[in-house]
Parts: sequence; structure tokens; C-alpha cells
Amino acid sequence: MITDVNLVIFGGTGDLSRRKLIPALFAGFIHGLVSEKSRIFLTSRSPLDGTLEDWVREVLAENPPQCDICDDDIARFIAAVSLMVLDLGGASAAWEELSSALLADPDMPVVHFLAIPPKMFTAACTLLGQYKLNGDNARVVLEKPLGHDYASAEAINADVAKTFDESQIFRIDHYLGKEAVQNLLALRFSNRLFEELWSNRAIDHIQITIAEDLGVAGRGAFYEGTGALRDMIQNHVLQLLCLVAMEPPAMLDASSIREEKLKVLKSLEDMDDYAIDQNVVRGQYASGAIEGKAVDDYATDLGLDGESPTETFVAIKTHINNWRWAGVPFYLRTGKRLPARFAEIVIQFKTIPHSPHPAWTAGLEPNRFIIRLQPEDHLAMRLMVKDHGSRDDRLREVELNLDTLAGVGGIRQGPYLRLILDAANGDQSLFVHRAEVAQAWRWVDRIIARWTSDGKAPHAYPSGTWGPYEAQALVQRDGRTWYETHLMKKRG
Ligand code: BG6
Repeated sequence: MITDVNLVIFGGTGDLSRRKLIPALFAGFIHGLVSEKSRIFLTSRSPLDGTLEDWVREVLAENPPQCDICDDDIARFIAAVSLMVLDLGGASAAWEELSSALLADPDMPVVHFLAIPPKMFTAACTLLGQYKLNGDNARVVLEKPLGHDYASAEAINADVAKTFDESQIFRIDHYLGKEAVQNLLALRFSNRLFEELWSNRAIDHIQITIAEDLGVAGRGAFYEGTGALRDMIQNHVLQLLCLVAMEPPAMLDASSIREEKLKVLKSLEDMDDYAIDQNVVRGQYASGAIEGKAVDDYATDLGLDGESPTETFVAIKTHINNWRWAGVPFYLRTGKRLPARFAEIVIQFKTIPHSPHPAWTAGLEPNRFIIRLQPEDHLAMRLMVKDHGSRDDRLREVELNLDTLAGVGGIRQGPYLRLILDAANGDQSLFVHRAEVAQAWRWVDRIIARWTSDGKAPHAYPSGTWGPYEAQALVQRDGRTWYETHLMKKRG
């Protein structure tokens, strides 16, 4: 499907635009998913040092899109892009110009993408309303994290609601746009096999890991005081947890999906101080090495004078208190400066109740369903089979590859492109409702309150390791291991 859209990126020359949005949109133009008559308006507080063309070339060289790049394509893309120096302080000639460009074609969908700090959302929306850029054809995309706690998120949501109807508001969580995540829904709700097993009757526990090897140098202004709990757990990790754990929705439309996700968030274990101390681990990266290259500690990366209480790693053990999941631990983990960029959901099934053959017990592994989001999309079942040709009936673990994309030759859209196109087409299924944001903050705020009251520093972990020892202990005391440990062992 080809989509028409006039896209306005507030914060158009900022970090998110450079790293994710421009490469995604370029690929969209080149693959013909975005129509030739679509326009991209980048807004920025200050002009570029050089030309827009040089800037686009530099951005694409630094952040390669999911397509080939040739000069003709760059020229075609640049013809659709313009840069406007626009201040959010109040009305201006630049706002007049933007508004007349957008109002000239009232039937064209307009997406206002707010890639700016959330404290500026109110000013941007007020001006959009003032210039009548909130008509029926307009949608606003809000980048996460929305606020820094429940109260600030509610205040922002209330302010945005003064200009835009909820049906026009698209709270983005780009993890929901990842191909493997959508495939998870397709597999769960189109195959009897999975749904029959998808509960505490057959599942032992679930792990969700989002590991990054990058540090936060260059993003210090945002990261310091935000930390991994607000940056990753409140949104990406809890959204993944919702999709894994939710009940089958009545229909695959936005309101049915959101209703089910909200029920999961409401069923999350309510942890008191003691439970938080036992089940939540925070860490901060120290110096170390990533792929053999020495890297600095967090405070040095940020140029801080003293120590910082900000966590760059969180591991949590929690439960979902409902009929389906009672008794099944969910282990959640995210961190910066871990050994690799790696995101995976692991559904570990219970072991068999009895083995009929002594030789089959050695090396017996529980079945696992693996949904890998990064570095590549991958879906697999890990099963035990007879070791081919072995005379002593040994078993071997094999991977049943469910990666449906291999060999299909379809266009890989990348999450941001997919979600921007969904917003242009008014489809909110893969976006987050205000009530979900509020509920996720309530849960996260409880942890932050405990951390504030105990005043402890995060555990230091050397860069290039899987986080502090306490995160290993969190699962080991339950007789389990993080699945990456197992993977590394296998890869030898
Ligand atoms: C963003 C976080 O939402 O997601 C970043 O703010 C993080 O800190 C990024 O690096 C990870 O996204 P991805 O798609 O690269 O895993």
C-alpha cells in the first residue's frame, strides 16, 4: 500500500530523527511505500551549518537505511524534504509558512511527530491548535518516555487532549513496530498449538531481555536522571510483556488490543518495599571492554564530576496475578554496555514429568520458544530429538526455525516507518493508550519511590558483562539461569 502523508518532525535535526526517522523515511520513499507527493517538514530551533543535502547525506552515511543508496534516490528524497527554523515560544512567520503549506491540501493526512522532550509537548500542541493544524486529517505522534512519572504523564496527556482527540493521538513505542513482535501476535492467535500451551499449565517462566552494547555518551542530558527503568522498562519491556501475556483480543483492532494490554498491566504484582528489595536489581556500568575495545564508565561518559545514582541496568522478577499466569515468574532485564545488542523473549516450558528412557535424561533441556527481536528477527522452538545416528540413544537439542520472512523477499520496513505509516492511515493498534501509560507509570513509580527512600547506589558492573552479580543471583536462587548464559555456552 502506498501512503500519502505530510510529515512534520519537531526536533527534525535531533538524535532520534538522525538515527531512526530519516533512514526509515528514506527507505519508505525508495521502496515506494510513501507516495511521491508526500512531504517531510523538519523543524529545528536553529539552522544547519551546511546545506540540507549535505546533512541528509551525512545522516544516511552514519545510519544506513534498510535499502541501497544511490545519488538519484538521495536527490528524489531531498526534493520532498524541507527544513524550517521554528520556535515553540509562540507565533511566528515560520509557523504561518508551515500552516499554509499544510492547510493547502486539507485531504492529505498530516502526522506531527514530536521528537522533542516531553516538557515541550504542551507548547507544540498549543501552537498546532492555534494554527488549526489539528483538523480531522491531523494526528500527533508522541515519543516516549511520556513524562517522568505518573503525575507528569497525566499532565502531558491532559494538555495534549486540549488540542487533539484521543483518536488522533499516537503514543509511539517503536518496539511494537518490530516485525518479530507482530509475528508473535500472529503466531499466538492463529495457531491452536501455541494458545493451548500458553499458560501456567505448561510454561515454567518467561524472560524478556533488551541488551545494548552502546553506552549513553552523547545522550547524557536526557539519560542522567531518567535511567533504564524509565527509559526502557516503563515502555518497551512492559509493552512486550503485555503482548506475551495478554488474553486473545476479540478483534485485532486498536481498542480490543489496548483493553487486553491494560488488563495485564493492572494484574502486575503489586510490590511492597521488601518485595522490591528482593526482586529488583539496579546497576550502573563501570569501565570495561566491548568486543575487545576499552570503554569508559558511566560518569566519565557523561563528563560528571562525582558519582551518579542513575541506573543503566535493571533486572526484575515479577508475576502477573491472574488465572493464566499465577505462579509463573517473569524475569525482565535491560541494560547498556552489555556484551551485545540483543533483544529476546524466551518462553520456557516445564520439563517433562517423567522420562521413559534413562539415556534420554542426560542433557535434557526444557522446550523453549524464542522470539528474537535483535540483532535480527527470529522465531524458533528449541526441541529435543534423538541425536542422529547415535547408537546409545542420546538426545540432542535442535532449533525449529519459524522465521517466516526468510526467502519471502518482502520489504522489511523497520519499526519507525511501519508506525509512521500506521499513524498516517489512522491505525492505532500498535500504539499505546493513555490508560496504559498511566498504569505502567503507577507500577514503575512504586519502584522509584523505594529507590529514593533507600538512597542506595546502583551496583557497578564492568562494561561488557551481563550486569551485576545480583542480576544472576535473582534467577539462580530460583534454580534458573538467564538464557543468554545458556546460548553462550552452546556457541562455545
Ligand atoms: C529508545 C531508548 O527508546 O530505545 C534508547 O530511549 C535505546 O535508550 C533505544 O537505546 C533502543 O532501541 P533499539 O530499537 O535500537 O533497540
